[in-house]
Amino acid sequence: MLEFFINGQPVQAEEDQTVMQAAKASGHFIPYFCWHPQLSIPGNCRICAVEVEVEGGGIGWLDIACNMPVSPGLRVLTDSDKVRARRKETLQFITLNHPVDCGICDKAGECTLQDYHYAYNGSPSTSLDAKVHATKHYDLSQRIVLDNERCILCTRCVRFTREISKTNALGVISRGDHSLIRPVEDGAFENDVYSDNVIDICPVGALLSKAFLHKARVWYLKPSPSVCPGCARGCNIDIWHRKSEWRLTALDAKQNARIDRVTPRENAAVNGPWICNKARDLARLLERARAIQPLRKGQPVEPQAAIAAARSLIQDAHRPVALVSSWGSNEELAAFQQALGGRFSSFVKTDCEAEPGEVLEDDLLIRADKNPNRAAALALFPPLPEADVAAFPPDCDLVLVWGEGFSFAQLPPTAKIVFLNSWLQPENGHADVFLPVSVMTERSGHYTNFEGVVSAFEPCFAKPPGVFDAEALFASLGRST
Ligand code: SF4
Ligand code: SF4
Ligand code: FES
Repeated sequence: MLEFFINGQPVQAEEDQTVMQAAKASGHFIPYFCWHPQLSIPGNCRICAVEVEVEGGGIGWLDIACNMPVSPGLRVLTDSDKVRARRKETLQFITLNHPVDCGICDKAGECTLQDYHYAYNGSPSTSLDAKVHATKHYDLSQRIVLDNERCILCTRCVRFTREISKTNALGVISRGDHSLIRPVEDGAFENDVYSDNVIDICPVGALLSKAFLHKARVWYLKPSPSVCPGCARGCNIDIWHRKSEWRLTALDAKQNARIDRVTPRENAAVNGPWICNKARDLARLLERARAIQPLRKGQPVEPQAAIAAARSLIQDAHRPVALVSSWGSNEELAAFQQALGGRFSSFVKTDCEAEPGEVLEDDLLIRADKNPNRAAALALFPPLPEADVAAFPPDCDLVLVWGEGFSFAQLPPTAKIVFLNSWLQPENGHADVFLPVSVMTERSGHYTNFEGVVSAFEPCFAKPPGVFDAEALFASLGRST
């Protein structure tokens, strides 16, 4: 450790840190565009300039904090007259050709260029020349649109594909104010399964999600902490949905209960600041047609009648078997074990397999197991044997199937079936009792990932009437009356 000074205050720093890193760690703010804690340092935007003080009152100089190593006794100023003047000049330069698009830009509310402009510049452009125009709508991929006029050429997106996703899919073409971000021509960016991270790290509104384009202003939305269920990594995410105080009544009310977008929630022990595109598409997974009606032999029944029927089947069974969901939360698994674990021979099943064309596994985040909580389920119950006959003894007379992914054709033909699921599918009507259960965006809980790290998820929406919470349902099914 060494000591240096920021604005006259002593700061302890590691010897290999930069002034930017040490400032961030000690709570001193220095603005930045091109610097990113997980990427290499190009030093191209110059907004992070700080003044280096010279002992004895000599004339100090300005240099960039993101690439300045700390040294013992170094003294820097982050808000001197010189620094403020340099920031203003830098912002004048960066906005020279930048359009005044904030009113229609999806990045408004999250744009550091807008924030820094108001904090450090605030003046109209001093340029007498017309702005240089560039491509306003360039299809970078099927998922992302690029507005080259808004791009400040920080190269974060380029470095992301070189250093993190390792597709080398983006680059800069041409020189000076004709420079443009462009994808390489072999389609690598289209196939980069981490591509949408460039939307988050772009400091301006140059890279935008087509799925979210002009859907909502971010200040109408609220991020709820959650966990991606797409694989056993369990990446921490924020699910963005409409704030209750901004609920729509006259317009499409369905927008009040939909996932507007998904972004990473940084967790160094799980996913760092990244997620793969599967998490961005969570709405496709969780907003499938829902099952909301309890059924008895395919006929609608009241929720309490369905519970009573399932309870009676469980009490009367001689050799009941349960297929436990690898999507159930830690709380639901514990509730099942406590209420029904002694009654059933229980096995953990696979709810989801990789979809055709999906990346099975890689060195960054993606895991081959496409179920979020198999680790916690296997800590309580054995896995479902490959041969069905090993799970279902000849006298098996009841199977409780929890979650999707298991064909009823594999069940003993004479066994009764109690089925818990969230989605509309034909099997629901073939069960003796069907009990619709909530999805993760309607309840809180925890998942344990393949490395044993536990992450929490919070509810975003109310569950539909008629739908059960599995945790309470198991307790109810386990009671004798
Ligand atoms: S598109 Fe965004 S991230 Fe990429 S260079 Fe331009 S400003 Fe930076
Ligand atoms: S790596 Fe797995 S858990 Fe992480 S975002 Fe992708 S699918 Fe979700
Ligand atoms: S943040 Fe330091 S030069 Fe860009």
